[in-house]
Amino acid sequence: MTNKQPTEQPEIILTGDRATGSLHLGHYAGSLKQRVNLQEIHEQTILVADMQGLTDNANNPSKVSSNILNVVADYLAVGIDPIKTTICLQSQLPVLAELTMYYSNLVSISRLERNPTVKSEIQSKGFQRSLPAGFLTYPISQAADITAFNATLVPVGDDQLPMLEQTNEIVRKINTLAGKSVLYECRPLLSHASRLPSTDGKNKMSKTLGNTINLSASEKEIRAAVKSMYTDPSHLQIEDPGNIEGNVVFTYLDAFYPDASYLADLKKHYQRGGLGDGAIKKILEECLQEMLRPIREKREEYLRDKAQLIEILSQGTKASRVKTEKVLFDVKDIFGLNIFKIE
Ligand code: TRP
Repeated sequence: MTNKQPTEQPEIILTGDRATGSLHLGHYAGSLKQRVNLQEIHEQTILVADMQGLTDNANNPSKVSSNILNVVADYLAVGIDPIKTTICLQSQLPVLAELTMYYSNLVSISRLERNPTVKSEIQSKGFQRSLPAGFLTYPISQAADITAFNATLVPVGDDQLPMLEQTNEIVRKINTLAGKSVLYECRPLLSHASRLPSTDGKNKMSKTLGNTINLSASEKEIRAAVKSMYTDPSHLQIEDPGNIEGNVVFTYLDAFYPDASYLADLKKHYQRGGLGDGAIKKILEECLQEMLRPIREKREEYLRDKAQLIEILSQGTKASRVKTEKVLFDVKDIFGLNIFKIE
């Protein structure tokens, strides 16, 4: 799969986020900022993936339902414009569940078990024999999301590449069955920013581990998170030379600090010695406070008017119903299931 960058030629873009928590700086650096630019050139739809969120939260469903509007508020606060981008809710698009069911017949269990992202998630969540079927098969539901919109470009992090591979396998099987091109293969759009590490520098970003900075973080939370950030454990005295590789403070500065030449000098100074962790953390904290203050304020403002958020989501979902019905019709047609269409 090639990682072609978007051309000026408009493409159909579909991306989504599990609604299992508020979005954080990792989402912002990795994909939200990019979506704000993409909406200017392309036809973009963003899916609030509540059904997918349930695949490992069915015993605690409020974790999903209570976060749907938070995620919409996060989108709007970073500058996603509902006039330019369609924002829709996965569970309110039955087409997606239907497509998932049809595609399920084209994917073997062993293929699902080979998906490296799902494999490592299964391990880290310790499912063992109680692995929910819905979790193992979520790549099929993601293929339904992508193909239902005829998406050609999917902005994702590199952990999602296996989902796109599986999507394209399903597309090829459908097209082979049809004997013609009914569905389109998609390409990933990886962001230039490398994956942002968690603040502890060790684990995957996780709300439970408290090693993320949410877009909603208060001033106090931002300060505490930067203070606790992993730096260079061998940099004990200010005058010692310090390492910038693997140093989370510098990785965050690389992602967000606006003045690249000042940052380059700062790095040299740190490597040479004479620049303390406290000083670099202060610079990062100021940068993040300044960047997140307006986002936090806008987010709070949006969340004060829930009716408006619901209206945006329902407009986008209704528009998406219209956009996706043709693909379901075509897929059912391949299986001969439009013959007995009962009105
Ligand atoms: N799997 C994605 C995630 O965990 C969310 C998602 C659901 C998605 N459907 C999608 C991403 C369709 C891209 C396209 O973040």
